[in-house]
Formats: sequence, C-alpha cells, structure tokens
Amino acid sequence: MAVREIVQVGDPVLRQEARSLAREELATDEIRQLIADMRDTMRAAPGVGLAAPQIGVSLQLVVIEDPAEFHTGFTPEQLAARERAPVPFHVLVNPRLTIEGNETVPHFEGCLSFSAFHMIVSRARKVRVDALDETGAPISRSAVGWYARILQHEVDHLRGVVCCDRMDPRTLSTPANYSKHYAGKTIVEAKAIIGKAPR
Ligand code: NI
Repeated sequence: MAVREIVQVGDPVLRQEARSLAREELATDEIRQLIADMRDTMRAAPGVGLAAPQIGVSLQLVVIEDPAEFHTGFTPEQLAARERAPVPFHVLVNPRLTIEGNETVPHFEGCLSFSAFHMIVSRARKVRVDALDETGAPISRSAVGWYARILQHEVDHLRGVVCCDRMDPRTLSTPANYSKHYAGKTIVEAKAIIGKAPR
C-alpha cells in the first residue's frame, strides 16, 4: 500500500493538460503501480475520485469509487437530492465526456486538492464517458446525478480545470463552516443563508 501526497491548488501541475496514455503503457509496472497508489491514496483520504495530476503525475488517468459506507451519514432525502448511489471502484484512462441533455444541477462539492473546502458548482445532470479501462479495453457508460458530477470533476482535473473555476464564488466554505452551516441543508436553504450578491 502506497499513499501518496495529494497536491494542493496553486501547484502548476493542477493547471496542465495531462498527457494521454498509449495502450501499451497500461501493462507496464510503472503504470500498474501508479494506479494502485491512486486507489490507495483515494481510499486513505478518503475521497470518491482522484486524478493522476493530484498526485503530481500529469497523465490522463482517473480512479473513482463511491462505496455504500460513504452514504450512511446522509438521509434518504439527501441521497435522493444528490441522485447518489454506490459506484464500484474503476479506472478511466484517456476519458472523453459528452454532456447528455441540458439539465444542470447545483450542489456543494469538495476536492482533495482544496483541503476539503466546499463550494456550490453547477454540473450537467447526465453525461456519457468513453475511456479505456486499466487493461486497455474500451468502455462507455452513461452516468446521472452524483456519479455524473464526480466524472465531470475528475475529467476537469485532466484538462487543468479545478472546481473553483466553475463555482458560485459566494458559496466557498471551509470544511468546518460547511459542516456547521450547510451540510444538512438543501441547496435552496443554503443559498438563502448566503444571500445574493449586492448589485
Ligand atoms: Ni478534485
């Protein structure tokens, strides 16, 4: 098990366009070890997704896992509002996202590269991702709700885009203030507490 240090915002590696991987590279010890380290680092954090640039490696590689035990702190209503369901561990190599439909959903999200600061980000409700898995096999899947959000967040990392680029800036919150003021609230309630920007 190798848990790597997670790069924090401000590091230029988070602003680079990551290099795509050739299929032959996936069988190398280096890439297999990198994927294992990304999995261990994500689980140790803990987080639901990690992109290679977040451990300082500018390659188009993402790991995602949203296990059921992460959902125990939410009410059924909160899970329904997020359209959040368990997602088993998987690896995406060279992912390409396609937005499906034109619905967007605002919600608080965080990032392991932002010391768990939270912010409201509007994301497409539905996406399709086309990628390779860790064996080099092509995969294509549609995603809705929280999983679609995770995909958009992680694929952004491969393009040098981070969540603060897409946030509603008035909603930026430290982890402690997020827990104290917003964690149990709906987005409508949270936005009512924050209020509108002065004109
Ligand atoms: Ni992130």
